[in-house]
Amino acid sequence: MGTEKKIIVTGAQPTGGFHLGNYLGAVKNWYSLQDDFECFFFIPNLHAITCPSYSPAELRHNTIQMLAQFMACGLDPQKSHMFIQSSITGPTELAWVLNCLTPVGQLFRMTQFKAKSEQKDFVGGGLLYYPVLMAADILLYNAHLVPVGEDQKQHVELARDLAIKFNQTYAAIFNIPEPYILKTGARVYSLQEPTKKMSKSDPNRKGTIFIFESIDGIRKKIRSAVTDSGTGITFSKDKPGIANLMDIFAALTGLTVETIEAEYGAYSYNDFKNCVTEAVIEHLKPLQERYLKLLKNREYLNSVLEEGKKVAQTHASRMMTKVYRKVGLF
Ligand code: ADP
Ligand code: TRP
Repeated sequence: MGTEKKIIVTGAQPTGGFHLGNYLGAVKNWYSLQDDFECFFFIPNLHAITCPSYSPAELRHNTIQMLAQFMACGLDPQKSHMFIQSSITGPTELAWVLNCLTPVGQLFRMTQFKAKSEQKDFVGGGLLYYPVLMAADILLYNAHLVPVGEDQKQHVELARDLAIKFNQTYAAIFNIPEPYILKTGARVYSLQEPTKKMSKSDPNRKGTIFIFESIDGIRKKIRSAVTDSGTGITFSKDKPGIANLMDIFAALTGLTVETIEAEYGAYSYNDFKNCVTEAVIEHLKPLQERYLKLLKNREYLNSVLEEGKKVAQTHASRMMTKVYRKVGLF
């Protein structure tokens, strides 16, 4: 294999379109990892069915859409392995083995489980065991680093605990993975409530810019972004709306916040909003064009998945043979 690159594993659930926060905070950074690491980018559709009200037809559609989004945002099948979680034999088998090592108390204490189970009338076992399946995704490909947002860090820590426990109980076969919280990723806030993070589940759709929404829609949303009643483009905690727009502008243009203050300080809020709008559109337009083209070429998307699956399955099968042998299974 020549020089061994460290392994990166991460996934994004097929729950609709990326928004500017997903893009600037996560996917744009994954793009820059592809040259230095062996990357496994997958679509965790088995995790998606832990949501009791999902629609099967929509799930299949969103899964393919997610692949097209990955690629439109610059993930490159020549460099990285892209595949669907459920197309691999291994994640659920490994999850079962890991389940047997997991104290249920730790699962009941998971922040995401607590938050999600409170919101639901029906709490399925899948929601409780969700982090163990995620640990299986990570350990199956022997990840060194797992790029995730803060909210998923606790799950990666469980994967670490389980890798250590397996290695001590049976045999040392797993790398101990580490969460990889990218420092360069911008944190993007809602355009309507700029102290709350931009989120796809925000009921106020005007606060979230989806990266594949119409240019017109984007213009309107930025124009009606909430700001304070002051003046001046300066970065301050008391001006969360303007600070958020400055952060977005900085992430898109590569300018620092200081440079933006120096160059745009005297602009009116409206003029600055126009500059942000143009920067967003200029950046997203080529992504949108790539996306539409990709979605029309289903054959190509299928071939990318086939290629990714081949490599992922080879790694997974090799690992599962080891796991079963060490655990005493056939
Ligand atoms: P959402 O909160 O909209 O449901 P997800 O939980 O699916 O988003 O997040 C997927 C990825 O995008 C994670 O790595 C997460 O950290 C990142 N992300 C989500 N929202 C933001 C945001 N507002 N700013 C920066 N990064 C974000
Ligand atoms: N739970 C992650 C999320 O919602 C998605 C995910 C599933 C994942 N398996 C993973 C992320 C393995 C990283 C590694 O964002």
